[in-house]
Amino acid sequence: MPRPLPVPYAPFVWPIGAKLRLPPRDTPLELNLVTLLEQRQTRRNFSNKLEVTQLGEFLWLACRNRSSRPSTFGPDQESRVHPSAGAMHPIHVLISHEAGPWMIYDPVEHSIMELPGSINSAAANRNEAARLLSLDKGVLLGFVAEPGKTAAKYVNHETLVWRDAGVVLGYMSFVAEALGLAFCPLGISGQPYLTDYLSATDQIQAVGLAILGET
Ligand SMILES: Cc1cc2nc3c(=O)[nH]c(=O)nc-3n(C[C@H](O)[C@H](O)[C@H](O)COP(=O)(O)O)c2cc1C
Repeated sequence: MPRPLPVPYAPFVWPIGAKLRLPPRDTPLELNLVTLLEQRQTRRNFSNKLEVTQLGEFLWLACRNRSSRPSTFGPDQESRVHPSAGAMHPIHVLISHEAGPWMIYDPVEHSIMELPGSINSAAANRNEAARLLSLDKGVLLGFVAEPGKTAAKYVNHETLVWRDAGVVLGYMSFVAEALGLAFCPLGISGQPYLTDYLSATDQIQAVGLAILGET
């Protein structure tokens, strides 16, 4: 339920390292929606390397920002590809390639940025994920919630944040199928390794993992 008055929130400032701009998916992707809905399934074979172009197209189609507007809640309200409670978009997407640090996706700039000091955390999360299934050449995606964004607008924000995380997973599974990629959500949340290298861990919370790759 919306609060009678906003509780303005100062967004978490991520410690950002090197930035890599991703290519957009600016050409049409013609497909049959009924067929795609019929054939989507969780695919767990990640035997080929995912190219940066493919990652860029996937993130562009599944979770980029289309526009932002200033709000009384602190952070901008956003229009992204997928819906979010109150347009607050509390879910951050992190990316781990083999043997590197976590990278965070910026849906406004459509770029990924290194999170310094996160190499061990990324490796620990990859090990945890590998206990469930083989990552092979797959990319590990981490979902980190910033509940304060949603709490600025809503009381009982906790369940909204988890539902937002589910929306992101749903869009990703659909877009992966459309691009011919393999995608598998994981049942573990990513705690504690998704966030343990960051200082303000009371502001952020691990809410899931998934594997993306090329079959
Ligand atoms: C929140 C969530 C967690 C999941 N966790 C796992 C998992 O840990 N390992 C796995 O192999 N599949 C996992 N899956 C995939 C489901 O097993 C899969 O969606 C289900 O078997 C239905 O198959 P389908 O997606 O091919 O229709 C998960 C799916 C969701 C939505």
